[in-house]
Amino acid sequence: MKVFTTISEVKDFKLSVKEGLLGFVPTMGALHNGHLSLVKEAKKRSSFVGVSIFVNPTQFNDLSDLDRYPRTPDADIALLSQVMEETDFVFMPSVSEMYPVKDNRVFHFGNLENVMEGPNRPGHFNGVAQVVSRLFDIVQPDMAFFGQKDFQQVAIIQDMVRQLNLKVKIVPCPIIREPDGLAMSSRNRLLLPEHRKNAGQIYETLLNASEMSKGKDISEIKTFVVDKINSISGFRTEYFEIVESVSLTPLNSKADLKERCRYFGCIALYAGAIRLIDNIELKFK
Ligand code: PAJ
Repeated sequence: MKVFTTISEVKDFKLSVKEGLLGFVPTMGALHNGHLSLVKEAKKRSSFVGVSIFVNPTQFNDLSDLDRYPRTPDADIALLSQVMEETDFVFMPSVSEMYPVKDNRVFHFGNLENVMEGPNRPGHFNGVAQVVSRLFDIVQPDMAFFGQKDFQQVAIIQDMVRQLNLKVKIVPCPIIREPDGLAMSSRNRLLLPEHRKNAGQIYETLLNASEMSKGKDISEIKTFVVDKINSISGFRTEYFEIVESVSLTPLNSKADLKERCRYFGCIALYAGAIRLIDNIELKFK
């Protein structure tokens, strides 16, 4: 695979591709099997695959989070070269290449940004939209692959594509988990051993919630999840919301369930100083 660091190299590559679909996987690196599953799906569905690795400063509302975000470029390239071919590329730009001048654009996502990650990470989705719209503009992909682990991010990106009238097709991909159920994340390597040991209980709790979904009230399910997570030493729930999958409207009562809608239980929590998110589909009927 080719490794590009400049926008003009990516644009030249795109111009040289006369036929075939280009699949794109944006990432912030510190790659793991969750990322690789997106790359494999992209390989299956397109003729060429581009992966970007860029720790985007504009989406970090917490500067210490940006500082401590893991950066492992050599390991990332080694991992990608196992699944990518000569015709594929990795794009690893510097901050000044991506943002030669400050990006002052402000996106509005209405209700999509007023729940869950929105109020808890002010400015985060604006930064995501800035970088992803810019990456789409550079790469001009036919399809882009996103993990459902970042459930709200997928809804935001789909809305951004509609707002900007882009031609790219967004392909959501399933969550890849560690053997104990912990959703894979670049942040997992920052967990203290005593927190990592108990982190499988997050998915276990979500599975319990999905088992409760047919018989119990929404408030009972929510209280159960929050109490269970908070009872693990060093763990603290930031939010647990049950939302409709497209509008992200929170569901507070089973009386509000709508036909043909899907609902997901989404959690954000701190394990020590490390913030983790996860989600599961809840079927009420
Ligand atoms: P990052 O956290 O590196 O994730 C890159 C992509 O990998 C996202 O689409 C994310 O949902 C997906 N992913 C992460 N863990 C996964 C897992 N366990 N299973 C399946 N997919 C997983 O998300 C971002 O970067 C950034 O916000 C980005 C979109 C690149 C913009 O900067």
